[in-house]
Amino acid sequence: MTILLAPMEGLLDFVLRDILTRAGGVDRCVSEFIRITDQLLPERVFTRIVPELHHGGRTLAGVPVRAQLLGSDPVCMAENAARLAALGPAGIDLNFGCPANVVNRHGGGAALLREPETIAAIVAAVRRAVPAHMPVSAKMRLGYHDDALAIACAQAIAGSGAGELVVHARTKAQAYRPPAYWERVADIRAAVAIPVVANGEIWTVDDARRCRAASGCDMLMIGRGAVADPGLGRAIKASMGTAGGPAMGWPELVPLLAEFWQLVCSRLDARSRPGRLKQWLNFLRRRFPEAETAYQSLKTINDPALIDRWLAGLLQARAADAGRLQAA
Ligand SMILES: Cc1cc2nc3c(=O)[nH]c(=O)nc-3n(C[C@H](O)[C@H](O)[C@H](O)COP(=O)(O)O)c2cc1C
Repeated sequence: MTILLAPMEGLLDFVLRDILTRAGGVDRCVSEFIRITDQLLPERVFTRIVPELHHGGRTLAGVPVRAQLLGSDPVCMAENAARLAALGPAGIDLNFGCPANVVNRHGGGAALLREPETIAAIVAAVRRAVPAHMPVSAKMRLGYHDDALAIACAQAIAGSGAGELVVHARTKAQAYRPPAYWERVADIRAAVAIPVVANGEIWTVDDARRCRAASGCDMLMIGRGAVADPGLGRAIKASMGTAGGPAMGWPELVPLLAEFWQLVCSRLDARSRPGRLKQWLNFLRRRFPEAETAYQSLKTINDPALIDRWLAGLLQARAADAGRLQAA
């Protein structure tokens, strides 16, 4: 069982990747998309979005990170991929699934799922432009309005030299509404000769089991579920007999929250810092009652000093609980 951490622009950036990969259970990450229009981007754009490029293409915990490109012009995608490849990512991933209207209007992301030939041209151009040892993968949705072209798109990707395909098991029109159609991933798996990764609506170990059974995939990608429960990857692995670990409890999460806040304060601009902590707590409260309490008490607070104090209190309470447990 292989677990990949999903790319999530505006949510799962290098800071949260660093924290979530410390928890264990994640084999590989994909960065949020880097948008390519009609220019060769300077190196600093790639390293700003994927600072792991300064660390051998890995998070500090040592988990490889592929960098994702989004664009619709094969020539420009290839030129940018070549520059990116020289910076040493763990691979290059191509986005054929973004549902954002601003991206689709310019022919990128999910809009390409109406044009398997353009997808093939992009994958082939990128594959040709980067060294043979650099993995090239792709991530697609099932389609744009419907899934009629799902197999054609997957075959375009596989036939043009991509080494792996992640399928978010929904169309653009289905947005993020449950369910995800994992059984359609099985159809795609049967139609291509490259490894296929199933993605979408895996929030629990049980979801992972059902997704694996429906899709036949031993590789799963988890996104929002991992943000809501950083121990999800290792719990899935443990439940399926792969070296994993126990589910994560609140006492284990508290130091990660403190480290997240430290990283946010040292790496992100001052105005966005409190929002980032609240954004994560907003996901965590789906899974942890303590995070709900935390979210409610921090909701209206924007003063970093007050957040520092609140976190120090949380760490103290955790240490006191641990002491009581030891004494008992
Ligand atoms: C806030 C957000 C940002 C996303 N950004 C990206 C992205 O940059 N590239 C991409 O391929 N998918 C992106 N996705 C899609 C996710 O990678 C994933 O396919 C989707 O969330 C379904 O998986 P999940 O149910 O495990 O979250 C994004 C999803 C969300 C919710």
